[in-house]
Amino acid sequence: MADIITKTNSEIGFSNLPDDTILNYESTFGAHHYSRQQLVVRKAEGIWLYSQDGKKYLDCLAAYSAANHGHHHPKIVKALVEALQGSYGSVISNVVYTDSLGKFLEKLATLTPQLGTRFGDNGNKVLPKCGGVESVETAIKMARYYGYKEKGIPDGKQEIIVFNNNFHGRMITVISFSTSDKYKEGFGPLTPGFVSVEYGNLDAVEKAVNKNTCGILMEPMQGEGGMFIPPDGFLKGLRDISDKHDLLLLFDEIQVGLGRTGKMFCFEHENVIPDGIVLGKALSGGLVPLSCFVTNSKLMDSAFQPGRDGSTYGGYPLACVAGNVALDVLVDEKLVENSRKVGSYLADKIREIAKRSDFVKEVRNRGLFIGIEVKDGDAMKYCRELLDLGLMANDSHGHTIRISPPLILTESEADFIADKLELVLVK
Ligand SMILES: Cc1ncc(COP(=O)(O)O)c(C=O)c1O
Repeated sequence: MADIITKTNSEIGFSNLPDDTILNYESTFGAHHYSRQQLVVRKAEGIWLYSQDGKKYLDCLAAYSAANHGHHHPKIVKALVEALQGSYGSVISNVVYTDSLGKFLEKLATLTPQLGTRFGDNGNKVLPKCGGVESVETAIKMARYYGYKEKGIPDGKQEIIVFNNNFHGRMITVISFSTSDKYKEGFGPLTPGFVSVEYGNLDAVEKAVNKNTCGILMEPMQGEGGMFIPPDGFLKGLRDISDKHDLLLLFDEIQVGLGRTGKMFCFEHENVIPDGIVLGKALSGGLVPLSCFVTNSKLMDSAFQPGRDGSTYGGYPLACVAGNVALDVLVDEKLVENSRKVGSYLADKIREIAKRSDFVKEVRNRGLFIGIEVKDGDAMKYCRELLDLGLMANDSHGHTIRISPPLILTESEADFIADKLELVLVK
């Protein structure tokens, strides 16, 4: 069973509502759109999740990379509390300026390498939203508008190339190009204008290009699709195809960006510069929703003028206060380097375990984004055992155990993960 911590429940701040009542509330009053594990989290701190009975669990999912900084990072919490107590956290009508938005935009636009270099060295611009899927839609609007305005594609005929097993979120346009029937069955009419091809297959991409193609949208490493790394040269090949056919190359870095794979941006593994990126999840340090589409200033200015986009809470002060500090923490506390270093330490250990295991098919990793594909295709079976041992992990695409803890993980905490995996994978 999980380690018992020494603090009392009241010291830790648990509510007194019993777990059963919480489960009952959810099943009675909540949509059943997630299959949940049998754990009610009362408190989260750093890499640890705490239950009411005082047990602690190492968080190996980190809310799909949203908690990259560790839960309740003290510097981000402090900034948020100060904003609320200082009366500059509340949502402000988007018809006036705020200090926090300006500062955040400058920080993110300049932290990101110049995107869309073929459009000139104009700097980047940022369009903020709340959920990741909203910013994916902004990227789609950008590619379609570019096709219409710059390439002369008739409006309504624009096409974007996407990839099999993609995951970009859950709203109608985005599920329309999912290759998972479960995500879209019965939710039609779906949005047209997408062609899906095999991830990693450049010939398939080249064949899919036609006179109406305006862009390519892809995850530089697939997250929900099974944690797959594209073959060497794939991103570079996509860049070449995009340049040859004048397409916008758009990377969804929502799950794999901001240090998760051991680089600030996952596209840096191949030194390929896209025309636009989508960020979310860890952008605010896991405390308030914040997502962004970032692109070359020239492209952003061409597509988005007043009235062409907007979002009530997109870029509101509290989110930007969090975003500002979260970006500083990533850099100042060297979380990207830590992800690379501890990620390779842990992945090496897991590869050793895999050699002794009858159950592991393959281990794939970049930084602290580690997938363990199991032979029987039932990753959750192992995750349930891990939960009993004090480690909370989940599957990716059914067949892969996802090990993606907060990027503050130390080597001794990595040892804890490896020890638990050993118990479950070597029998
Ligand atoms: C690659 C990718 N894109 C988009 C999304 C959607 O983000 P959100 O759930 O914030 O809408 C996710 C969420 O897991 C994701 O992993």
